[in-house]
Amino acid sequence: MRITEADLSVAADLLKRGEVVAFPTETVYGLGARIFSEEAIKKIFSAKRRPSDNPLIAHIADLEEVDTIGMDIPPVFYRLADRFFPGPLTLIVPKRKEVPESASGGLATIGIRMPRQNIARALIRAVGEPLVAPSANVSGKPSATSYEHVLEDFDGSIAGVIMGNPSEIGIESTVLSLSGPIPVLARPGSISREELEEFLGMSIGIPDKETHRAPISPGMKYRHYAPKAPVIVYFNPEEAECRLQNFPFVKRVLLSNRNRSSLPDTLSLPLGVDSFYAGLRSADRASVEEVIIVCDEEIIGDPALMNRIEKAAGIEIPTRFRSI
Ligand code: TXA
Ligand code: MG
Repeated sequence: MRITEADLSVAADLLKRGEVVAFPTETVYGLGARIFSEEAIKKIFSAKRRPSDNPLIAHIADLEEVDTIGMDIPPVFYRLADRFFPGPLTLIVPKRKEVPESASGGLATIGIRMPRQNIARALIRAVGEPLVAPSANVSGKPSATSYEHVLEDFDGSIAGVIMGNPSEIGIESTVLSLSGPIPVLARPGSISREELEEFLGMSIGIPDKETHRAPISPGMKYRHYAPKAPVIVYFNPEEAECRLQNFPFVKRVLLSNRNRSSLPDTLSLPLGVDSFYAGLRSADRASVEEVIIVCDEEIIGDPALMNRIEKAAGIEIPTRFRSI
């Protein structure tokens, strides 16, 4: 069911009845369900075809909700919440036993985020409990930054979609774990590591693939955000241009701030945090044979976007092209 923003109570009623409803947030659209309903959580995992060990983020509207889902909340949580909530930051803390194991993928912790988008917070308040919400895409596919993207993946398989505006930011929240001795960055996002470190006055940890045999954020180990066609990443615009000249008749999407092409089979789209997922989804809709991504200094300087590019391409970007 397509639900307008004016009909928020319709969406809240569906959620209260244990259904799944997609809603807009400032990062990406989320696939929402009541956090205390085991049945509703099951529906998220099956609609998304998500591995059951990948935990969900709890979305709250007010800080009073924190103690209903988390415990032993460290003071640093409230310092960060005071500065960055509502906004694109998820904080991981120990979870209360009342939160179903299925929500946390079997972990003893839960990620908590207060979205900045007013509709999202109004919806949570109308339901009367936190909503778990993964990104509203089928597992492995590019995230959804508009309700049309949500319908591409879930039309008919979830109870409702709120037809809000496109997501303002366009990539998922920064995830910071507060469950160990020092804060650890589990997923980069638009709130940067530097910003967090400056605010906290301390260094934060970065999960190290070598030493973390179990990934700190289970979601980091799966292929993500991938379009159907192979993704080729260039750090040199001339090399990308060579590929276009040598293979002019390949049907492709070119994501770049620098390279544009007038080749008839090449669809040139801009590359940026707010346009990345939409670009990958355009490639899927046009059934292209390849996606070419050209990273200039500005793109390389954005660790959150580079993280998503790396995942979409299924490659590890050489350290000399990383800014962290
Ligand atoms: O911006 C966002 O965070 C969006 C919107 C809808 O709020 N949500 C989102 O959820 O990106 P999802 O499920 O697509 O990604 C959540 C990420 C996954 O990589 C997951 O493994 C990690 O956060 N995560 C969640 N809870 C965790 C926990 N308790 N410990 C470690 N990692 C966790
Ligand atoms: Mg996701």
